[in-house]
Amino acid sequence: MENDKYLPLLAKVGIVVNKPDPDYDRATELRIQIAAHDEAYHGRDEPVVPDADYDALVRELVAIENRRPDLVTSDSPSGLVGSEPNEMFAPVEHEVPMMSLDNAMDLSELDAWHERILKSLDDSDNPRFVCELKFDGLAVSIRYDDGELTRAATRGNGRVGEDVTHNVLTIRGIPHRIDDAPKILEVRGEVYLPISRFNELNRQQTANGGPPFANPRNTAAGSLRQKDPEVTASRNLAFWSYQLGQTSSDATISSSEETFALLERLGLPVNPEIQEFSNFADVRGFCREWMEKRHEPDYEIDGVVVKLADLAQREKLGSTSRAPRWAIAFKFPPEEKITRLLQIDVSVGRTGRATPFAVLEPVFVGGSTVGMATLHNEDQVAAKDVRPGDIVVVRKAGDVIPEVVGPVLGERDDESQPWSFPKTCPSCGLALVRSDGDANTYCLNRTCPARVETGIIHFASRNALDIEGLGERTVRGLVEQGLVRDVGDLFGLTKNQLLEVLVADASNETLVNNLMTAIDEARQRPLPNVLIGLGIEHLGPSAAELIARRFGGVEAIANADADEIEAIDGIGPVIAQSVTDFFSNSHNRSVVEKLKSNGVRLDLVEEERDAPQILAGRSVVVTGSLDGWFISREEAKKAIVARGGKSPGSVSKSTYALVVGAEAGQSKLDKAEELGVPIAGEAELRRILDIGELP
Ligand code: IVH
Repeated sequence: MENDKYLPLLAKVGIVVNKPDPDYDRATELRIQIAAHDEAYHGRDEPVVPDADYDALVRELVAIENRRPDLVTSDSPSGLVGSEPNEMFAPVEHEVPMMSLDNAMDLSELDAWHERILKSLDDSDNPRFVCELKFDGLAVSIRYDDGELTRAATRGNGRVGEDVTHNVLTIRGIPHRIDDAPKILEVRGEVYLPISRFNELNRQQTANGGPPFANPRNTAAGSLRQKDPEVTASRNLAFWSYQLGQTSSDATISSSEETFALLERLGLPVNPEIQEFSNFADVRGFCREWMEKRHEPDYEIDGVVVKLADLAQREKLGSTSRAPRWAIAFKFPPEEKITRLLQIDVSVGRTGRATPFAVLEPVFVGGSTVGMATLHNEDQVAAKDVRPGDIVVVRKAGDVIPEVVGPVLGERDDESQPWSFPKTCPSCGLALVRSDGDANTYCLNRTCPARVETGIIHFASRNALDIEGLGERTVRGLVEQGLVRDVGDLFGLTKNQLLEVLVADASNETLVNNLMTAIDEARQRPLPNVLIGLGIEHLGPSAAELIARRFGGVEAIANADADEIEAIDGIGPVIAQSVTDFFSNSHNRSVVEKLKSNGVRLDLVEEERDAPQILAGRSVVVTGSLDGWFISREEAKKAIVARGGKSPGSVSKSTYALVVGAEAGQSKLDKAEELGVPIAGEAELRRILDIGELP
């Protein structure tokens, strides 16, 4: 939410609203865009954007989710292409892939699945169906060897997950040792946070002055996908087992009943609500019943999973690359609640767009407390006919973004008046403008404090210049005191000026020194980050990277025409036009000039430029620490990859050379010698990178 002025107000009356979180907002926005494109592509078979633009959206989302595991949602479209395992954890390859489930969004889609099943089975098969709740947690695989818990992993992208063994060992109810277990037993199931424990955790969290957790699912994911087992232990996670993965031949299982009987006998937690039916009408009945009862259990569920019970029949149906054909997730419709719409306000973002939003009496819906909801634009408010004071229906769109569905007309006050869009900007007071044919209303004042502030906050954010310590309060102070009018001014700030703003904030000199250092360091951020920071519409990280590589510097990008930019593989016409529009604006050009004269790097440095692919097809292994020419081994690996080569972690007979740094382990050296792989030092590595060959 761009406008957070109600947060302190609501906090004062004891109401907690989720804090503004640009990553959350961006991830949500991306999910909605991706879902709309998916619908256009799969549903209507008419894609509206080039594949590369679509891929860029998905990649951006995956990048955010990898960086912020707490923001991953179970139905994130990133899961469709797999969320790449985070490098923080050791990778674990799943011998049996961990698949996704196809969704049935209503009972007719569930029936359609049933029809498909019947067609693929023989008449004599008489399928039985097992109905399970769909737990809203995160899937994990837990492996026992000779009864000993040896490894636990997240699903990751389905083929490779993350090793979270130490954390899983702290979860109550998951046995560390199982007597009488098959030689190899891989148990799969859902790690979740019971709602009562989630509420308790949030009470503690807010009592300690911390921000509340958004919902049980994200908290469970965040608690498992972090490094410290003590943190996991303190969160009181729980587990339901529902499937077997890899098992040795001494586990003979032919149906889901046998699976659950085995899991129970071995002491693993099995959910008590599982039921089996032969009659499909009963399956529908189970789904309907749980739609009504969805809030009864002390854990969150978002649907019912229906699976064929017989494993031989499952075999017959097989799987697609993504999901088995023998199972389907019946998803509950988004939950709706009613609450009072207190007022409609307008926030102005960095592009000047004025967005109306509803300030609501906070209500717990779809897993988190909602105190505000965007109303998008003037027409949307009119179409929904929502008015201040109305009782309104609220739900989570795609279970993520809060949405006002509409008013409960029977409850409307006789005196109520339709809302009208303000004529002037709530921040600078100048006239707001809506052009013909445009649904959006804008504040055109480039010096509008709201625009400048949100622009600077964006500029300083993680994906852009990543200036630590430049928070909203500081930015507001700097803008209010007239010290900063655009992002270019940031780099001209003096220590005294910062002190003036921060001292009012009861801060000390260390903070100012840190901020000065952070600003100074930001001068050297890579060019793509600067492009992102400038806030060019439609420009995401991957497009920024492509454009930066092609042109090498801001000057050349600013002088390029749209055709030249569009000629880059992976850049579509919308982005190309947006970039040229941006640089043809004189204000934007002057901001860039200011950045330049204040010492911000606006060119790629040598090693960021496209290197000739002289190492294509060659694999160079680097071992030991390289502290001579390169800063680190990682840097050396990057340089190899940038030249088209590979730099795997182990030596094989196809390795072109083994580069050995200080304190290298003996085993790679032995292996290289055994296989006749040439051994090189740093000097030779330099030659390899220069000419692609060993001297
Ligand atoms: S079966 C191939 N059973 O839903 C079978 N999954 O959308 C996939 N889930 O990754 C797993 N409750 O995290 C299964 N009773 C249940 C489930 C369940 C929740 C989750 C699981 C999976 C996701 C697929």
